[in-house]
Amino acid sequence: MCGIVGYVGYKPVVDILIDGLEQLEYRGYDSSGIAVKFDADLKVYKAEGKLQNLKDVLKQHSKEISAAKTGIGHIRWATHGAPTVLNAHPHTCSCGNLVIVHNGIIENFKELREKLTKQGCVFKTQTDTEIAAHLIASIYARVKDLTEAVRLAIKELDGAFALCVMHNDYKDTLVVTKRNAPLLVGIGEDEFFVASDVPAVIKHTKKAMYLNDNQIAALTPKSMQLIDENGNVLEPKIEVLPWEPVALSKMGYKHFMLKEINEQPDVIRNILFGKLHTPLEPIVLDEVKLDRKTLKDLNRIQIIACGTSLHAAMAGKYLIESFCDIAVDVEASSEYIYRKTVTDSKTLVIGVSQSGETADTITAVKQSKAKGSHILIITNRPDSAMAREADSLIPVNAGIEVSVAATKSYLAQLISFYLLAFYMAEIKGSTDKALLQSMKTELMLLPQKIEQILASADKIKECAKLYSNTRDFIYIARGINLATALEGALKLKEISYINATGYAAGELKHGPIAMLDETMPVLSILIKGCVYEKLLSNSEEAKARNARMIALTNSKDEKLNDLFDFIIRIPEIQEIFSPVVAIVPLQLLAYYIAEFLGKDVDQPRNLAKSVTVE
Ligand code: M6R
Repeated sequence: MCGIVGYVGYKPVVDILIDGLEQLEYRGYDSSGIAVKFDADLKVYKAEGKLQNLKDVLKQHSKEISAAKTGIGHIRWATHGAPTVLNAHPHTCSCGNLVIVHNGIIENFKELREKLTKQGCVFKTQTDTEIAAHLIASIYARVKDLTEAVRLAIKELDGAFALCVMHNDYKDTLVVTKRNAPLLVGIGEDEFFVASDVPAVIKHTKKAMYLNDNQIAALTPKSMQLIDENGNVLEPKIEVLPWEPVALSKMGYKHFMLKEINEQPDVIRNILFGKLHTPLEPIVLDEVKLDRKTLKDLNRIQIIACGTSLHAAMAGKYLIESFCDIAVDVEASSEYIYRKTVTDSKTLVIGVSQSGETADTITAVKQSKAKGSHILIITNRPDSAMAREADSLIPVNAGIEVSVAATKSYLAQLISFYLLAFYMAEIKGSTDKALLQSMKTELMLLPQKIEQILASADKIKECAKLYSNTRDFIYIARGINLATALEGALKLKEISYINATGYAAGELKHGPIAMLDETMPVLSILIKGCVYEKLLSNSEEAKARNARMIALTNSKDEKLNDLFDFIIRIPEIQEIFSPVVAIVPLQLLAYYIAEFLGKDVDQPRNLAKSVTVE
């Protein structure tokens, strides 16, 4: 959450900063700001709300800022202090000679604020970031060297931070550092680009350096000096970024979310490519380092994740337990990290994360790694901090996901769990070979089934129109599709702000049924298989309380027409694979409802794509 950018070089800086912030807008959009350096002057411009507001502010100053070639920028998701202009970054020290942008949370900011106030610093904002500006400036006053001041200052900071700093005494220099927050430096010819994430630099350069925790880099147009926390000079490790700028276009769709939903058949083909050649051959997961002995020795698997990734993990538990004969627990990372977990070298810990940046999941992964567990990471960002902790890795290759509401990454995570479950079953010999072959055949057919659903989007639009005026929405399912119900409800609530909840259908009668009346839509995920009849009974119970009944089903049963007011049909599918297919209409339903309600689909209020704070 929050995105930072910086540039030092020979080009006019403002457009580069604004373009970079635009690419990082998924990280937060409460407010934004930039600071630019002229020969003898530093100027700060800020605006509340979306980036467009900052652009409007800058239009009024375009002449005076056009000559600047060095600058920093920030897009904010508020943690400390309301999303006002005052609290927007960049922040300055008391004399205004030092400016800073920050992503993360400085946990000991209260103590530091008291200490610095006693030393005479005057605080203007409610942010934790401002203390970093005062702290670095006060050390700079003593040591007269910006890099050294930053190095000494971060020794006093607890928490997570990526910082980019400029000082008026330096004509064209940026100093950057990080701990538990992402930061990379894009390397051009006589220019450097700083950013929280690849999309902000990729159109300028493919060469980059990722900073490790507590490293500090000083950048001028002609030089980069990298040091560690003890001041030792380091050799920068330069990487080539495996990204293409074209991935960030909406490609004619109205929203990124709709584009990403429509990409899903290809996302599945992409992830299966090279891993599942034919049903007769074993699954190939090159970066998974689990041999027969390690698997036999395991006594449990723990899967940790947040949000949508947590729902993929729930389906993952079901699959691994079905095929691999091993107990699996699934837990929200934020719950896992503040209790005593029974985790050791016989535990396989699987971290699931689209971004690979989620702070709670990173902490959970680090904790279990310290206890000796094998760490397997399933992520869309093999270049992320989480991936760097992995003993085994499954890159889901969904391509960059811009919409804050996760869609294609969820599907890619689900497919990864099928591959992993079949892979482990093959190594362990825990499932009959013929059954596994038929499973692999079915897996390969999934893209076509999703294409059929996408082709019937109008029917889902019709449903959205009928139900968009509701205040609440209930999704019910059983078995492996409980994950689908929870994910469908999460999609609806996060982009339409309708109070949508997913329930295990059998639990309805233990409380939630009290909410049902003729105003409440209940969407039943009714898939033929071991819980079909049970779910039908649960749907009857809801109907008897006058709920507005919707079915999402692969059944052609005539009697459903009496029970349900609206039926969304999906293609013929085995129950075990149904989560992959059933979630697509629910993504579309959420999308069209939000569209009818005129909501900001790609950037819903209060959310950010990467949640880098605990
Ligand atoms: O990047 P991650 O998968 O770790 O993110 C986890 C959640 O923050 C994320 O899934 C969030 O719930 C999305 N907004 C869901 O659409």
